[in-house]
Amino acid sequence: MPGSTTTAALERAVHRYRRAPLLARWFVHGRAFLSDLARVEEYVPRHGFVVDLGCGHGLFANLLAEASPRRRILGLDIDDRKIAVARATIAGRDELRFEVSDVIHVPPPRCDAVTIVDVLYLLPFEEQERVLRNAATALAEGAPLIVKSQEARIDPRYALTYAQEVITVSLGFTRGGSSRFHFPSRETALAMFERAGFRAEAVDMRRRPYTDVLYLARRSPAA
Ligand SMILES: C[S@@+](CC[C@H](N)C(=O)[O-])C[C@H]1O[C@@H](n2cnc3c(N)ncnc32)[C@H](O)[C@@H]1O
Repeated sequence: MPGSTTTAALERAVHRYRRAPLLARWFVHGRAFLSDLARVEEYVPRHGFVVDLGCGHGLFANLLAEASPRRRILGLDIDDRKIAVARATIAGRDELRFEVSDVIHVPPPRCDAVTIVDVLYLLPFEEQERVLRNAATALAEGAPLIVKSQEARIDPRYALTYAQEVITVSLGFTRGGSSRFHFPSRETALAMFERAGFRAEAVDMRRRPYTDVLYLARRSPAA
C-alpha cells in the first residue's frame, strides 16, 4: 500500500490540473483514481534524472516531482494536445519538462531511470520491444526501467482491462493506438525485456480490477 506521503503527493499533483480544460481534468482525476500511480512511484529512485515515456497529460511526472524534490523529470508523449496540458502545470518549476516525441522512433536522452506507465499495450509487440531497446540506450548498466502494464491472461479482469481501453480510445482520450491492443502474457513480456537488454521481474498489482503488472527491470551488462 502506498504511504500517506505518496498519497498526499498524488493529491498535490492532481491539484496542478485545476485550471486545465474540463475533459483533461476529468481524465487526470480518472487516472489518479484508477491507475495506482502512487504504488508505481515508490519503485522510482528518489533522486536523479527520470524520463517518463508516453507521459500523457503528465500526471505521473508531476507525482514524481511532488514526491521527491531531488528528481529531475522529462515527460515525452506523441500527443501535442496532452503535452500542452502538461506544460501548463509546470508553473515555473525547473525540475519538470515536457516534450512532444515519438518514443518508438526517438530514443530518450541519457538518464538515471526510465518509466513507462500504461503505454506499451497501444503498440504492436515489435514496437514495444523497440521502445524498450531505446530505453536501454539511455541507461547505464544496472540502471532501472519501471514499466506498468497489463497482462493477457484468462481472467475476468482481463476482459475488464480490454473493455476499458476500447472505451478510452474510442472517446479520443488516448492517441497512438491501432484498432486493437497488444497486451502480452507475462512470459512474452519478460522475454521481450531480456531481448531488449534488461533483467526484469514482475510484481503483481492486485488493488484494481485489472490485470495490472509492474515490471522492475535493470539494464543488463552490455553483451
Ligand atoms: C493510457 S495513456 C497513459 C499516459 C500516462 N503514462 C499516464 O499514466 O497517465 C497512453 C499514452 O501513450 C502515448 N503514446 C502512444 N504512442 C506513443 C508514441 N509512439 N510515442 C509517445 N507517446 C505515445 C499516448 O499519446 C498516451 O498519452
